[in-house]
Amino acid sequence: MTIKQVLRMGDVRLLRRAEEVDVFDTPGLHALLADMRDTMQALDGVGLAAPQIGVNLRVVIFGAQASPRYPDAEAVPDTILINPVITPLTDDMAEDWEGCLSVPGMRGLVPRYKTLRYQGRDEYGVLMDHTVSGFHARVVQHECDHLDGILYPMRMRDLRRFGFSEALFPDGDIPSE
Ligand code: NI
Repeated sequence: MTIKQVLRMGDVRLLRRAEEVDVFDTPGLHALLADMRDTMQALDGVGLAAPQIGVNLRVVIFGAQASPRYPDAEAVPDTILINPVITPLTDDMAEDWEGCLSVPGMRGLVPRYKTLRYQGRDEYGVLMDHTVSGFHARVVQHECDHLDGILYPMRMRDLRRFGFSEALFPDGDIPSE
C-alpha cells in the first residue's frame, strides 16, 4: 500500500500537458495504478489523475459509491482511463460544486458539459467507448482536464463561488472532492 503525496495547486507540475501512454500491461503501469488507487482511497477522492502524484502520463482513475448524503452524486463505476478523448454531445452545460485533492479544503461552482462521449484504453490497452451524463460526465471532465494542466478554478465563471468548504457549507453538507 503506497499513498503518494498529492501535488497542490501552485505546483507547476500540475500545469503540464501529460504524455500519451504507448505501452500497456507493463509492471510500471500496473504499479502506477495501484499507487493511484491507494492514494485516492486514503484521501476519499472521487478521482485522481497521474499528474497529481507527479507522473506526467495521460492516466486517470475515478469511481464513486452512491451516498445518501449527496443525493445528486450518483454512483460512478470504478474506471481506469488512459489516453482519453472526450467529445461533448451537447452544448448544454450545468454548474455544480467540485473539489479537488490538489485544492484541499476548497470548493467551487464549475460549468461542465452535461453529456459526453469518452474513448480511451484500459491498463491492458483495450479500447473503451462510453456515453455518460450528469455527475459521471462531470467527473470525467474534471479528471481529464488534469491531463491538460487545467484545474477546476480555471474553469469557473464566478470566483465569488469559490471558497473554503466549511465557509461555503456551514451545515456540513459538503459535496465530495
Ligand atoms: Ni482534481
